[in-house]
Amino acid sequence: MLKRVAILANGGDVAGLNPVIRAIKRTAEENKIECYGFIDGYKGLVENKFIRLDHQPIANGILPRGGSIIGSSTNTIVFNYKVTNPDGSVEYKDLSDLCVQNMMNDRFDCLFTLGGDSTQKSARDLYIKGINVIGVPKTIDNDVMCTEITFGNNTAVSVAAEALDRLHTTAETHHRIMCLEVMGRYAGWIALESAIAGGADVALIPEIPYDINKVVDSIKRRIARGKQFSVVVVSEGAKEKNKEASTYNADIDSKTGISVKFAGAGDKVAKQLQDLIGLESRCTTLGYMQRGGTPTAYDRVLSTKYGAKAMEFAMEGKFGILTVIKNGKLDYVPLEEVVGNNKELGAVEGGTEDSNIRYVTMDHELVKTARDIGICLGD
Ligand code: F6P
Repeated sequence: MLKRVAILANGGDVAGLNPVIRAIKRTAEENKIECYGFIDGYKGLVENKFIRLDHQPIANGILPRGGSIIGSSTNTIVFNYKVTNPDGSVEYKDLSDLCVQNMMNDRFDCLFTLGGDSTQKSARDLYIKGINVIGVPKTIDNDVMCTEITFGNNTAVSVAAEALDRLHTTAETHHRIMCLEVMGRYAGWIALESAIAGGADVALIPEIPYDINKVVDSIKRRIARGKQFSVVVVSEGAKEKNKEASTYNADIDSKTGISVKFAGAGDKVAKQLQDLIGLESRCTTLGYMQRGGTPTAYDRVLSTKYGAKAMEFAMEGKFGILTVIKNGKLDYVPLEEVVGNNKELGAVEGGTEDSNIRYVTMDHELVKTARDIGICLGD
């Protein structure tokens, strides 16, 4: 019998975190289970900081709210936790045993981990150490293995599609090429879907290294047809054939594995196109607009389904799992499968090119659809 459960949100925020928290909390309330939230993700678990959520005003009215009422921390791995000593020196320590101890002392029967690949890797590792864990797949990037859709992605795609609608009118008015850089790290889901939803002419994704001359040809063909403007979506991780992606500070916190920050892919493409085509080109980087604000109705429903089902799995005693959508239906897979080849306990992982993430595959129907309607993918 479950008595007390806790939730943590880890990694970059997405619209949909609060609806998941609400669904877990409400399902807990319906079943007379106490529900708590660790503050700022794994950081709260390490520092044992949590708040009660069931029947509390703080957790009321949160369905349409962006962000997370219990915060979230990025670049936090309990197996390699950054500790600043009183003399200012920095050390990385394995604090996983402390987390297990905190869970036991506070008599939590289950921990819900809302997060992406890195968060779920740590969740799997904590499960091996004895914590009853259930993961819920969160990320705008939609790159978590074993699930067809992560919560937060649909809102990000909708924001990008709206931005493309707006860029279209200004591109057309000024006869310009408008590039929109969107997020997604090593996966092109946001770029590809928003390009289709927003009627873009070109979509450059990390999985298809681009040849700029192919992009130039496709835009010139549009010009020849009398279209003096084009709209180009550039995924932040997009790269030219035989070149690296545009990044900065490539070794930020390499101990945590979150080593690469993307920046500049869209600017680079805009400059190349202006130089090679002669039409004025501009780049808009959408950035954190994709993560903030109210979730779409789709994300509210998906998040609510995920949260309620995760709580159901907990009541059935299914732990060490990720709640997923498989063949369009709610299901679960062992976290072991999500982790894939990265089996080593506590190993630095997550947010890297080698992580076990879900890439856009060349036979995916979105790729085919894009090609069918003449979106240039740069190859
Ligand atoms: O993984 C989600 C994401 O928004 C990526 O799309 C983006 O590259 C990254 O996080 C940005 O991370 P940060 O919040 O650390 O700047």
